[in-house]
Amino acid sequence: MKIVIVYASIHHQNTKKIVDDLCEHFSLDSIDLTQEPHPDISSYDRIGLASGIYFGSVHQLIKVFVEKTKFRQDQKCFVITTAGAPWIDFSIFFYQFLKKKEIECCGSFHCRGYDTYAIFGKIGGIAKGHPNSKDKMRARQFLNNIK
Ligand SMILES: Cc1cc2nc3c(=O)[nH]c(=O)nc-3n(C[C@H](O)[C@H](O)[C@H](O)COP(=O)(O)O)c2cc1C
Repeated sequence: MKIVIVYASIHHQNTKKIVDDLCEHFSLDSIDLTQEPHPDISSYDRIGLASGIYFGSVHQLIKVFVEKTKFRQDQKCFVITTAGAPWIDFSIFFYQFLKKKEIECCGSFHCRGYDTYAIFGKIGGIAKGHPNSKDKMRARQFLNNIK
């Protein structure tokens, strides 16, 4: 099974840390949407959509990518998000959004990511040290389960 993770990670590369770990561990491909906004993913069976959370949502580049891409019926997506707040699993919202658009989804993963946006920068940031090794292990288990 061929898997690619397309991602947007613009704050502290938190999401990229998860993506890179998965790619190294499982020998997957990844595509940085900030460098390549309209990649061809036709040769892949599973497409991971990974993003930091900005103002309660995934990055605009992910939304545009999903909007412009015609997924084949046999292709399935999965979602990976990182966010500063401890209390919400943002990946579920995007997962549900994709399902509503009738895009086949096979799971979602979320963890915290170091956040220094706005006021949080003044207090040294929140979710310091995340994603950490436990987050990475959880992400590996998640991917193992959906493969
Ligand atoms: C402009 C901006 C808006 C953000 N909005 C939220 C938010 O609404 N909720 C939240 O929990 N974290 C928010 N964050 C924190 C990021 O989601 C968190 O740091 C994430 O791990 C960033 O991922 P990245 O380093 O891959 O870009 C925001 C960060 C930035 C820079």
